[in-house]
Amino acid sequence: MARAKVLVTRAWPAEVEARLAAGYEVTLNPSDTALTLAELIAAAADYDAILPTVTDRIGAEVFAGVPRLRILGNYGVGFSHIATDAAKAAGVVVTNTPDVLSDCTADIAMTLILMAARRAGEGERLVRSGQWTGWRPTQLVGRKVSGAVLGIVGFGRIGQALAHRAHHGFGMRVLVQNRSAVAPEVLAACGAVQVDTLDDLLPKVDVLSLHCPGGAANRHLIGAAALGRMRPDAILVNTARGEVVDEGALAAALASGQIAAAGLDVYEAEPRVTPALMGMENVVLLPHLGSATHETRAAMGHRVVDNLDAFFAGENPPDRVV
Ligand code: DGY
Repeated sequence: MARAKVLVTRAWPAEVEARLAAGYEVTLNPSDTALTLAELIAAAADYDAILPTVTDRIGAEVFAGVPRLRILGNYGVGFSHIATDAAKAAGVVVTNTPDVLSDCTADIAMTLILMAARRAGEGERLVRSGQWTGWRPTQLVGRKVSGAVLGIVGFGRIGQALAHRAHHGFGMRVLVQNRSAVAPEVLAACGAVQVDTLDDLLPKVDVLSLHCPGGAANRHLIGAAALGRMRPDAILVNTARGEVVDEGALAAALASGQIAAAGLDVYEAEPRVTPALMGMENVVLLPHLGSATHETRAAMGHRVVDNLDAFFAGENPPDRVV
């Protein structure tokens, strides 16, 4: 029987590429350049499976008239870059990679909380500039994290992993806002309390960390109105999806002192960052590092291949999204 034809849109960990090549007719992308929309549309006509990443915008046009494509195995948990309704209508299965990146993404959220609260980016820039004149009692004084109130928006796997770190590791008090009720034992395991609405949460927190999905439903969830309900000493952290935060409104809130600081790992139009944020001292900017460890990037790849193997064996893939 002919092997399924599979396109991998970016360079992957070598061990997973080798596993793929052993089971499929694979086209890899050793140059690691992002595919154009025209290339993605052409690939949908020519491949049984495409394995995209967050850098591939898979809009409805990719599924128009799809003669060959049967499955999109997304290398990542978030899939707001894929028009899943159009995929479903075209009979194309979509899978993702939950679980395996929760710990590392929560680690990056905690990193951003600590960096923003303790002004670590400013300190690093000061040392590298050669302008550091030595220890002073009033130099780069930040916020104490222990005992501070952390608000978590979206209490899925990553939100929960952050709550455990923040509560058990750093003695933070955790408040949670989630679209559905969280089981009492899940909240109790990380000393968390659920509040009813985002509006309830915003004025109560020292740090707000976002862990909800992206996409149209949550676009600009944190905009001028939400930022206006936060305290002037509060910190905003986003490791979820860029579109959840209105970057223009955030830049204005940081400039005016509406909130104190921010830590961002994701952006509205990656890799572009709103220019006003680039020059600000009170914002930490990371290049979408949430899942970027050797272990996790390999685990994500294996999870994609597990789903692909199940699909081509005629089974329902375990991480099927549509
Ligand atoms: C994810 O898995 O969603 C990461 O953000 C990379 O896309």
